[in-house]
Amino acid sequence: MSDTLKRAAAERAAALVSDGMRLGLGTGSTAAHFVAAIGERVRGGLKVIGVPTSEATRQQAEREGIPLTTLDETPELDLTVDGADELDGQLRLIKGGGGAHLREKIVAAASHRMIVIADGSKHVETLGRFPLPIEVVPFGLKATEIAIAKVLKGSGLNPDLRLRAKDGNPFVTDSGNLILDAHLGRIEKPDALAAALNAVPGVVEHGLFLGLATGAILATGEGLVELGQ
Ligand code: A5P
Repeated sequence: MSDTLKRAAAERAAALVSDGMRLGLGTGSTAAHFVAAIGERVRGGLKVIGVPTSEATRQQAEREGIPLTTLDETPELDLTVDGADELDGQLRLIKGGGGAHLREKIVAAASHRMIVIADGSKHVETLGRFPLPIEVVPFGLKATEIAIAKVLKGSGLNPDLRLRAKDGNPFVTDSGNLILDAHLGRIEKPDALAAALNAVPGVVEHGLFLGLATGAILATGEGLVELGQ
């Protein structure tokens, strides 16, 4: 998707923000446009506070001059705006392509509303074409991989340990964990899969966001399409 379309979705979401709002600031290339748009409005006098969902977003928000807080100081947020790797018609998401889904999910869950801004091509009939990120603690990695493979039995290949493109070393999240990417193709029962993964010791959080997004702004070649609210 062109940067222009990403920016259009982000600016539409930024227009929903008003004085006094407590914001969750998402992570990724689309969310970065939202952070930039909020930064511009803050410099124009908008009064908001934000909780970043990653170190990268924190650094960007600081550069933009957006006042920041934490969930410890501000445990309840009005609105989170974030990107997604896939979403379906029920606003169920796969997130974590950037490895930030643990903090993204905590922030989304603390928000009254979560609006997804995304390329229209990320809107799918059935989740799963995008590999599902599963964040795991480094301790006992092999045992956790085996336990996850049992959960996924019959659903596809064993998950891959995510490696950094630049040097081939394991990708380490902001919370010091590792990521396994599960190539599932189709996730027929997201709720059941989420519950099964949550039950595996060593799994910190997976990228299925169920019942969290309340709306979406999708950028398409024909313009913006809005779902939910
Ligand atoms: C970060 O971990 C992800 O959940 C991103 O929000 C997601 O990958 C979307 O990123 P883009 O906007 O860069 O496609």
